[in-house]
Amino acid sequence: MEGAERRLVFVSNRVGPLSDEGKAGGLAVGLADALRRRGGLWFGWSGESSEAGLAGDLKVETHGNTELVTLDMTVEEAEGFYLHYANRTLWPLLHYRLDIAEFDRQSDRTYRAVNRSFAERLHPLLGGQDLVWVHDYHFFYLGAELRERGHKGPLGFFLHIPFCPPEILGALPASLDLVSAMLAYDLVGFQTDTDRRNFVSFCVEELEGEELDGGRLRVGERVIRAATFPIGIDAEGFAEFATSEEAREHEKMVLGMAGGRAQIVGVDRMDYSKGIIQRFRGFEQLLEDYPQTQGSVRFLQVAPVSRGELEAYADLRTELEQIAGNINGRFATLDWTPMQIMTRGFTRRALAGIYRAARVCMVTPLRDGMNLVAKEFVAAQDPQDPGVLILSRFAGARAELSAALIVNPYSSDDVSRALHYALEMPLEERQRRYHLMRQKVFENTAARWCDGFLEAMEECARQSRADSEE
Ligand code: ADP
Ligand code: G6P
Repeated sequence: MEGAERRLVFVSNRVGPLSDEGKAGGLAVGLADALRRRGGLWFGWSGESSEAGLAGDLKVETHGNTELVTLDMTVEEAEGFYLHYANRTLWPLLHYRLDIAEFDRQSDRTYRAVNRSFAERLHPLLGGQDLVWVHDYHFFYLGAELRERGHKGPLGFFLHIPFCPPEILGALPASLDLVSAMLAYDLVGFQTDTDRRNFVSFCVEELEGEELDGGRLRVGERVIRAATFPIGIDAEGFAEFATSEEAREHEKMVLGMAGGRAQIVGVDRMDYSKGIIQRFRGFEQLLEDYPQTQGSVRFLQVAPVSRGELEAYADLRTELEQIAGNINGRFATLDWTPMQIMTRGFTRRALAGIYRAARVCMVTPLRDGMNLVAKEFVAAQDPQDPGVLILSRFAGARAELSAALIVNPYSSDDVSRALHYALEMPLEERQRRYHLMRQKVFENTAARWCDGFLEAMEECARQSRADSEE
């Protein structure tokens, strides 16, 4: 059976929205772009808690060719699964932050139980021909649970965030179980070759796996495919947003606030992996090292609060506000405030206008799966007068956007130098770098990412049918 006839089933913790509402998070943006085109079923958490939790009623919403089906969790399920294991254990660990990852047995149990319950509720909705594509670190065990329930159809998994090296992952008490469970999928996709290599190394070093040709991997009886699929954006659509009425209004407002000064922007979920503290230090150093920039630049950081129930995130907010306050206190004059931090969400059109107003965009994560902000910034630029992208060497986007100014986000010297270079960059160089990046962003779109993954899944399905007929 060919891809067009099979129904597409996405599973992810966050589901929707499909429309252009304010939303922060690369996964939701990437999947909505892909599903709007192809249609299918999107299954996951409603984001709400109730007494019945995962045993409660399914909530079904239909939007054109797409059905969103969600479930509540109980407070205990949401705490153990989402807040604790997903975001206090797996998120820091996979972002190489062993120093703050927390391990405890109870949340590991809840995480597995929640994966089991999701599989139990999803399985009756599935047909054997469906292409089931599971997303992100919330659902490492879901594929194995579906298999236990007799699901034989093709199963794919894509990790939107980094996959850390075995030396770090090995610290997770359940690392062997977790990676073994990933082998239930036919296809496992990563953002970068580094992530893929880390996964393969774990399988080889810890599970006696063997790398075969064509990206295939044998572990015991199982042969799966592990491949790299860098996620993209709907570049044409986003470029159109950038010239919409709403975008123009926002662009004008930002430029008005800048009052002829060079505008620097940062746009990130408020997350410690994004390197916002280090970025602020780099900006401060720019003002120190290049005094002529005092009074002639303005830095706007948009940072919607994310996972605010977790201490690490609440502390980050306090710290960022303090640092911004100190920088303003130290450098402001009666007619100039160096920086501003905003925690509100924007629509995608408004955001596109903010990007377009920027002379420089700073994307300086300490570690990031891809980073869609970098790609959105490029798509939103005016080709005649494009802004400059400063990009961390630790963002997945670096592999494609090597024409950006690449920095080590830990080095405030490096960041301050890059900022200065960006502010001075002649139009010709800006255009040259922009065109190289634009080509990549418009070539490798969300649609292409989706099609590439689904084609590879079809191929895996054909292969496993052929193997079972032998
Ligand atoms: P992550 O997935 O870690 O959040 P990405 O950079 O890949 O990082 O994706 C973030 C997404 O969230 C982008 O699509 C960006 O446009 C969106 N976003 C960030 N800040 C805001 C905001 N204030 N309002 C609306 N969307 C936002
Ligand atoms: C990243 C993750 C997503 C997650 C999003 C927002 O993009 O890859 O899986 O949904 O951040 O985080 P949240 O915890 O609010 O879902």
